[in-house]
Amino acid sequence: MTAGSTSGLEWKEGDVPVSLRFDDPYFSLGNGLAETRHVFLGGNDLPARFRDGFGIAELGFGTGLNMLATWIALRDHGFQGEMNYTSFEGYPLEAEEIDRALRAFPEAHAVAAPFLEQWAAGARVITLPGLRAEIVIGDVRETLPAWSGRADAWYLDGFSPAKNPEMWGADLMAEVGAHTAPGGSFATYTAAGHVRRALGEAGFAVERAPGFGYKRHMSRGVRS
Ligand SMILES: C[S@@+](CC[C@H](N)C(=O)[O-])C[C@H]1O[C@@H](n2cnc3c(N)ncnc32)[C@H](O)[C@@H]1O
Repeated sequence: MTAGSTSGLEWKEGDVPVSLRFDDPYFSLGNGLAETRHVFLGGNDLPARFRDGFGIAELGFGTGLNMLATWIALRDHGFQGEMNYTSFEGYPLEAEEIDRALRAFPEAHAVAAPFLEQWAAGARVITLPGLRAEIVIGDVRETLPAWSGRADAWYLDGFSPAKNPEMWGADLMAEVGAHTAPGGSFATYTAAGHVRRALGEAGFAVERAPGFGYKRHMSRGVRS
C-alpha cells in the first residue's frame, strides 16, 4: 500500500498523501476534488455568493487543493474582481510534495503551475488572476487570534477531530466565529457533536447536511 515516504508524509494508493504526524490523509481516498466541491463550496453556497472583495478563510492549507478548487470555480463562474483567501497552516508541505499530491486531480493539477512556482520560491502570498491567497504559517491556536481579518466563508478542514483535536477546540471555534463577517458562513466535513456545539456557541446557526460519499452528514452554518 505504501508507495514511499518523505519527511512527515507517506503515500497511499499511489498519490494520496497521509500525514505521519496525524495519521490521517490530506483528503478523501476516493475523490478529494469532488469532496471539496460538495463540502466546502456547496456548504458555503459558493460560487453563488462570490463578489468582489469576498473573503474565504481556511483552517488547514495542506496541498492547496481547496484553494485551487475555489480558483477553478471562480474562473468557471466568469467572476470579475478579486477575492481573498486566507489559510492557516502549521506544517507546510514542500512544493514537490504538493505537486505529487495534486497529480491525483488532473483538473486541479492542470492549473496549479503558477501556485507551485510561487510556493517553491518561498512566497506565502500567492497571487492568481482574481484571487489573492495568504497562507499564515504557525499553530492556528496562536495565528488565528492574532489575525485582523474577517471571513465571509470558512472552510474548516483540519484532520479528523479524533486525530487533530487542536484544530477543533471550543476556544478555536470561538475565534472562527469572532473572525466571521455578519451573515458569514462555515462548512466542514465533520458532524462531530462537540464541534457542532462549539460552533453554535460561537454564534452560528448550525445545521447538518448530507455528507460526501460514505459520510452521512457534514455541518454548515451561518452567523447571524
Ligand atoms: C486535512 S489537511 C488540510 C487539507 C487541505 N485543505 C487541502 O486542500 O489539501 C489538515 C491540515 O491542517 C494542518 N494542521 C493541523 N494542526 C494544525 C495546527 N494546530 N495549526 C495549523 N495547522 C494545523 C495540517 O498540517 C494539515 O495541512
